[in-house]
Formats: sequence, C-alpha cells, structure tokens
Amino acid sequence: MAHTSREVRLKSRPVGTPKAENFEVASVTLADPGPGEVLVKNLWMSVDPYMRGRMYDRESYVPPFQIGEALQGGAVGQVVASGDPAFKAGDLVESMFGWREAFVGPAGALQKLPASNAPPQAYLGVLGMPGMTAYTGLLNIGDPKPGETVFVSGGAGAVGSIVAQIAKIKGCTVVASVGSDDKAKWLKGVGVDEVVNYKTCGDLLAAVRAAAPKGIDVYFDNVGGEHLEVALEVARPGARFAECGMISQYNDTEPKPGPRNLIYVVGKSLKIQGFIVSNYWSQRAQFLTDMTQWIAEGKIKWEETVENGIENAPKAFLNLFSGANTGKMLVKLS
Ligand SMILES: NC(=O)c1ccc[n+]([C@@H]2O[C@H](COP(=O)([O-])OP(=O)(O)OC[C@H]3O[C@@H](n4cnc5c(N)ncnc54)[C@H](OP(=O)(O)O)[C@@H]3O)[C@@H](O)[C@H]2O)c1
Repeated sequence: MAHTSREVRLKSRPVGTPKAENFEVASVTLADPGPGEVLVKNLWMSVDPYMRGRMYDRESYVPPFQIGEALQGGAVGQVVASGDPAFKAGDLVESMFGWREAFVGPAGALQKLPASNAPPQAYLGVLGMPGMTAYTGLLNIGDPKPGETVFVSGGAGAVGSIVAQIAKIKGCTVVASVGSDDKAKWLKGVGVDEVVNYKTCGDLLAAVRAAAPKGIDVYFDNVGGEHLEVALEVARPGARFAECGMISQYNDTEPKPGPRNLIYVVGKSLKIQGFIVSNYWSQRAQFLTDMTQWIAEGKIKWEETVENGIENAPKAFLNLFSGANTGKMLVKLS
C-alpha cells in the first residue's frame, strides 16, 4: 500500500539570514517497508541552530544539505509498519529523519525511546540532544564547583536553560543573558540568580559586571561575538569557557574578527574549549540517569515553543534567529 508524506526541502542556499523562500514543501509517496526497513509517522520534529551550518556548501562535522533534497534533523515518531523484528507497530522511535511527516528508513537508524513518564518530545529537548549538550559541555569543560559563578548566554534556550539549572544543582551562582524580559522572568522563576536582557541593557559589559561583581569562573557560550568578549573581560583567573555555539555569527556573510581581547587567555590562564555533543556520546546513559532523577526531583524544568504542521517548520527554524522561542523549538505534526 502506498503512503503519502510531505517533506521540507532546501530550495536554495541562504545568503545571510535564511528566508522562507529558501525552503519548499513537497509531497512524496512511500512504499511499504521492505525487509530491515520501518515505516514511521513522525509526531514531533526538532529545528536547531546547527542546521544553519548545513545550509552552507562546505565541509564540516556533518555533511551539507543538498538543494532539492529533504532536510534532516531529529524527530520522534511512531512505527506504522515494520519489516524488521526489532520494531513493531506502535513503538515510539527517535531518528534523524525529521523535516518530513513520514518515512521509510533502515531499522538500524532508529532508536526506541526509553520507557519513561516524560512526553515523547522531551527526547528532542531536555532528555535529548540539547539536554545532553548542556550536561556534557558544562560538566566536562566548564567543570563548575560549588560557590563558583557560571555565566551562560542564550540562557533561556533549549541548551542554555538546562545549563543554568544544572549549574544551580552544582551549587553555583548563575548569571544568564537573554533577549527578552519574559525569558528573564522565567529563568528567575527556575532559580537563576541574575539575568541580563542583552537587547535592552545598553552596555552589556557593565550589565554582566554588575550581575557578577566578583567575575565569572565558567562561561558557557551559545552566542559568540560581543558576549564572548564580555566573558573574556569578566573572567577570573583560571576560568573555563565551554564553546558550544556562536549563533550571533551563523548568518554572517564574511567571518568577523575574533574577540578583540583574546589576549586575556594568557594572562588569566583561561581554558577555552569547543565541543560537539557527539564527542561525549559515551556519557549518554549517565546523562539520562542524572537528568531523569533531577526532573523527578523538580530540579530541572523546561519550556517548549511549538509550531504546528510540516508547512510551518521553516518558520520555526527562522524564528530561532529572532529569539521567538523560549526553551526548545519544536514542530508538532498532526
Ligand atoms: N556544540 C554542540 O554540540 C551543540 C549542540 C546543540 C546546540 N548547540 C549550539 O547551542 C546554541 C543554543 O542552541 P539551542 O538549540 O539551545 O537554541 P536556542 O537557544 O533554543 O535558540 C536560539 C536562541 O539564540 C538566541 N539568539 C538568536 N540570535 C542571537 C543573536 N544574534 N545574539 C544573541 N542571541 C541570539 C535567541 O534567544 P534570545 O531571545 O535570548 O536572543 C534564540 O532563542 C546554539 O549556538 C547552537 O548552535 C551546540
């Protein structure tokens, strides 16, 4: 029996900030799954800032998206029909076959969701890639100790909000920067000590200095640019910088000069290390154990921003760059 699905394709490579016309929605017909294949109907899909990097035609740690082809990304869905004994109809699975309503994929590319009380879309957020990014980047590179001060930019996002709360669990003072007062209010509500609205504060350096008068011991960077310069300025000797992302520069058409005050890395003996969450894949079981426990204890809370329907997936993606999301940006498929 044939099944129909819609998928989002890259129509043209964005120059600067992506626009709706860089994407197109197309219908496809799917055959029944053959041996070793599974037909999955996606329920939720993730849009993530790193996908912007895959829209450039250049080598990176993941291959570029191809024009005219469906995009890829994290998704959770339900098995409709299976040609593989490891999966049966009704199973909830995670895959990288997002940006489409349904797909036929190899069983080896699917992972069953663990049995848990969490809603399935949590495996695209707090219990998925963004949560694990926060956990592994902060704990392995930031190495926060009780009493230290942690500064996190993009503080109300999928990664940043979890970083902020794990840092609180580790006994730190937490300073976050965000792009709206509503985001600041939410973060204060989950226990973050100081929140700076970088869009309205005027002088970001003065605002972060006031929020962290003794300086910072850890910087978790989601934003780059001016935020990184400010963090270098307020860093205490021996501070650790977890370089997770630099979203303020993803749409630049020319590379920006590096931080003008990078010289502090020497005099302050700073450790600055970038990472990709997959570097720490071996820590996934420990991450899930800790995060599940913290959620059960009420120590980690999360927000979702949801767009409905595959046709709104490009909009959800574009909205990441204007800060329309609080917490994890998701697309719900009917
Ligand atoms: N290294 C890894 O393995 C890894 C894995 C996942 C994510 N990341 C990175 O982590 C960062 C956060 O990802 P996420 O999935 O959690 O996204 P997110 O923070 O949920 O969403 C992006 C947020 O970035 C902020 N933003 C957008 N443009 C900005 C700009 N020009 N200046 C400052 N802030 C800006 C917006 O919040 P405001 O309203 O606060 O501006 C927006 O809501 C990104 O840089 C991403 O690439 C890295």
